Order: sequence, then C-alpha cells, then structure tokens
Amino acid sequence: MNYSNSYLKEVAAKKILYNEYEKSIAWQCPSNIALIKYWGKRGNQIPLNPSISFTLNESVTNTRVVYHYDQNRIKYQLEYYFEHKRNEKFENRISLYLESLQGYLPFINGLNLTIHSENSFPHSAGIASSASSFGALALCLVSIEEELTGAGESEKEFKNKASFLARLGSGSACRSIFGNLVEWGKSNFIADSSDEIAIQIINKNNNVFNDFQDIILIIDETGKPVSSSKGHALMIDNPYKRDRLRQAKSNLSRLLNSIDNNDLHSFTEIVENEALSLHALMLASNPGFFLIKQATIEVIERIRKFRQDTNIPVAFTLDAGANVHVLFPLSFINQVLPFVKSQLVQYCSHGKFIHDWIGEGPLKLM
Ligand code: PMV
Repeated sequence: MNYSNSYLKEVAAKKILYNEYEKSIAWQCPSNIALIKYWGKRGNQIPLNPSISFTLNESVTNTRVVYHYDQNRIKYQLEYYFEHKRNEKFENRISLYLESLQGYLPFINGLNLTIHSENSFPHSAGIASSASSFGALALCLVSIEEELTGAGESEKEFKNKASFLARLGSGSACRSIFGNLVEWGKSNFIADSSDEIAIQIINKNNNVFNDFQDIILIIDETGKPVSSSKGHALMIDNPYKRDRLRQAKSNLSRLLNSIDNNDLHSFTEIVENEALSLHALMLASNPGFFLIKQATIEVIERIRKFRQDTNIPVAFTLDAGANVHVLFPLSFINQVLPFVKSQLVQYCSHGKFIHDWIGEGPLKLM
C-alpha cells in the first residue's frame, strides 16, 4: 500500500476528542540544499527522479499557528502574517494548500487559524524559502492533528506524516523535515525510499560530511523570472528528459559511494555536475530560460581556480536561481572564509552572504 492510502485509512479511524478547542503550536524548520537535484514532477508532486540534500542549520523558518477548533464551523478561516505583516499573497497560497489537504486533515474546516511566520534569512535574499516554510507549517498541522485526536505518534511516524504533507506544498520541503543527509524519491539504492516522503540517510562513518559548511553567496536578491513550478513543468517535454533521469540515478548512487568512502574528490565532481546539469536543463527547455547571472559564472570560475591552486576541496552548487552555495568541510574554514571574503563577496549583492552548515533538522518551539 502506498503512503497516501495508509494515511487515509488511518484518518478514517481517528476521532476528534473535542467540540471546541483552542491552543497554539510553533515549529522551526530549516531550509535544505540539494546535492542531487529534483527537477521535473508528475501527478501530485511525485518527483521524476530521486534527490539528496543537506539540511541546513541557520536558514530557518519559524511558524506559530494559533488555532481555535469548533466542530460547528463549516469552513476554515485563515489569517497569514509574514514577518509581522498580514500577507495576502502568501495567505492565498496557504489557503489553496489547506484546501488540498482536506482528505488527510478532515478537521481543517473546523479551524480558525492565525499563522505567524518569519525567516531567519533576509526576505529578499533570493533564497528559496518554500522548503522551510511548508516544512514548518506541515509540522504544525501534524501537531494540531495529534492534539485534537489525542493520538500520539512515534517520532518516526510523526515526521513521515509531516514530510508527506510538506511535499504537497513544495516538493523539496519534504526533505527539510529530517536532519543531515536526506533522500527523497524511489531509488533501488536506498531501502525504504519513497516518492511520497523523504528519509534520512544514516551516515555511518563519522566522516567529513558530518560537519559540512555552506556559504551562500547572495548574487541576486530579486525574484526569479521563472518559478520552480514552471521550470518543473517544462521538464515534461524536455528533449533530454530520459538522459536526465539516467544521469540523476547514476549520480545518486555515485554520491552515496563518495560519502561512504570519504571521497571529497568524486563528491565535488558529482555535486558540480548536478548543479550545472540543472541549469543546462533550463537552457534546453522550450521556451529556454536561464536563472544564472554573469556573476554566478565568475564566482564558479574563481572557486574552481582556488581549488586547483590550493587543493582545498571546495565545491559549488546552485539551486533554481543565481546564488552560489560554497560547500566544504569544517576543517578548511580558516582557508575558505578569507577566500570568500577577499575574492567572492565583491560579486554578492550588497556584499551579502550567509554562513550556514549541515543541521539536525526541525525543532519544536515553546
Ligand atoms: O521544491 P521546489 O518545487 O521549490 O523545487 C526545488 C527544485 C530545486 O531546488 C532546483 C532542486 C531541489 O531538489 O531542491
């Protein structure tokens, strides 16, 4: 049975304990950076290929949901505040999201919800915040379900549910529910992997990947000219689609091997290949588009030259935008940070960058 069916079966067996109930709940959820990129989807947020990410530590969304449940309410009510201001654009998106979850959360129509959300990173930094925001909201929704039904889940089941619900808001959000190294999408190389929820990959070796750093260079602070949803949709007719699926599968198994073997050389090669392939797929879409800027290319060239000159294992990756993520093991911080400040910050918008690192995953607040 797939995850969605077992969720629905469980929902049918659950009863709401109260006629009326009032409380608030808050979660912090981090963003994540993909090493193997998810690009292209089918059906209801099912990825065309499996992906792997590092969960970040410092780039987080904090979400508090104040809710009042009344069994006689026939339609949920929602107010959404982003960084202390009512935000109608986000409110409409969240409203559509709540509509789409009614089958899984049948109590939703009985709720009056006031949602307060804020990010630790600057709003207009060009950093995708949908992973951390849908992650935080999904965690709050599973907490509300638990509260109203009195049914305590195991931590594993709680997170699986949150990952499932987060995915329906934004695909990559399902990975943010877990810490460290996370995989999403059915893969022959990972037992229990699923297209519907993410899973944490246990990195058995106490190796360099456990303390990886990510310096995010804010190259462009303006919004994306083409949204991720549009980009995913353009993959369906991309002439390189089949080759991309083959490439992602092979890169995924090679990346897992490089992590197992502490092999920074092949890690760098694969991660950079994924970043450039993602943007090549955008160029090859019809209509083609590009999200990188001239500064993105200059920064990439400087990173590669620095690596060649010093032998320090610094890798870059990109998400769906112009910003560059500089990845390296903590042990090289004293060499890499001065390099970033002296050679790369000049390409950043207003000199902005965020120093982040691999993190443990979400945190319940209060
Ligand atoms: O989750 P979405 O729909 O915002 O798509 C994310 C796509 C990439 O960031 C480019 C890759 C990924 O796997 O996170």
